[in-house]
Amino acid sequence: MRSLIDILDFTVDELNELIATANDIIDNPDKYCEKCKRKKLATLFFEPSTRTRLSFEAAMIELGGSVIGFSAANNSSAAKGESVADTAKTISCYADIIAMRHPKEGAPLVAAQNATIPVINAGDGGHNHPTQTLADLLTIQREKGGFENLTVGFCGDLKFGRTVHSLITALSRYSGIKVVLISPEELKLPSYIKKDVLKKNSIPYKQTTDLESVMPELDILYMTRVQRERFFNEEDYLRLKDSYILEPKKLTKAKKDLCIMHPLPRVNEISVAVDNDPRACYFKQVLNGKYIRMALILKLLEEAEK
Ligand code: NCD
Repeated sequence: MRSLIDILDFTVDELNELIATANDIIDNPDKYCEKCKRKKLATLFFEPSTRTRLSFEAAMIELGGSVIGFSAANNSSAAKGESVADTAKTISCYADIIAMRHPKEGAPLVAAQNATIPVINAGDGGHNHPTQTLADLLTIQREKGGFENLTVGFCGDLKFGRTVHSLITALSRYSGIKVVLISPEELKLPSYIKKDVLKKNSIPYKQTTDLESVMPELDILYMTRVQRERFFNEEDYLRLKDSYILEPKKLTKAKKDLCIMHPLPRVNEISVAVDNDPRACYFKQVLNGKYIRMALILKLLEEAEK
């Protein structure tokens, strides 16, 4: 059974196909409005979510399907001690496809190993978030026309930010990518990603604590929130939370066609004064996330029927 747990589960060609489908959905929504008639998506969210869960639900509804699920662990039998494996086997009796978010790294993989229907990883702890990466890739493709020869700056919590881990992994397969890692010392990108993704694929990268000094080089600036829920103590969070705040004056030396991205939710990292800058793409990412999830649901359900 085909699932999406890690962004590398899909080849570059398959990602291109998904992006093409999403663009076709944007242009011809009526063509898709009954494609998932009588199909059910189960959203199993053991962690808070606004965009990911609701975009999955909106995606399934726009495909003519329906949605069941829960939005917090304490609304499910997990609160009684049920295992992820048993939950996955149970939901396989009710639904055609699962989107799961869980605080434990690897939980969606365990679900996929036990379900008899496709499972989509909607975020597992501080590990991966492949469907945010799909939304990011669609946004980059629409804004930049492709993925080659881009210098991409990742700024903020690169240690716990799962969207960063998945997007760096995805971009490592394209040529001419350069990565700039901007974070406080304590929130640097985990060394396993530097080794297994950046070094392994010979991606040039540099690390800095200073956003403004690298701003002129960037084609894409991917801002992130400091991941409070993954900290061991509140003091460290309070000390680090406002490390980077993007304001209009910090963009004066940026490229005219810089693409400013953020998976959202934002806390303080981007001042609302930046929202009117034509380079701000984070609400476009939100919308693109719905379309690419429609394409993903279609692909996985089609493959499940083969
Ligand atoms: C991200 C996540 O859940 O990892 N949010 C999202 O899905 N768009 C980013 C975050 O929570 O900071």
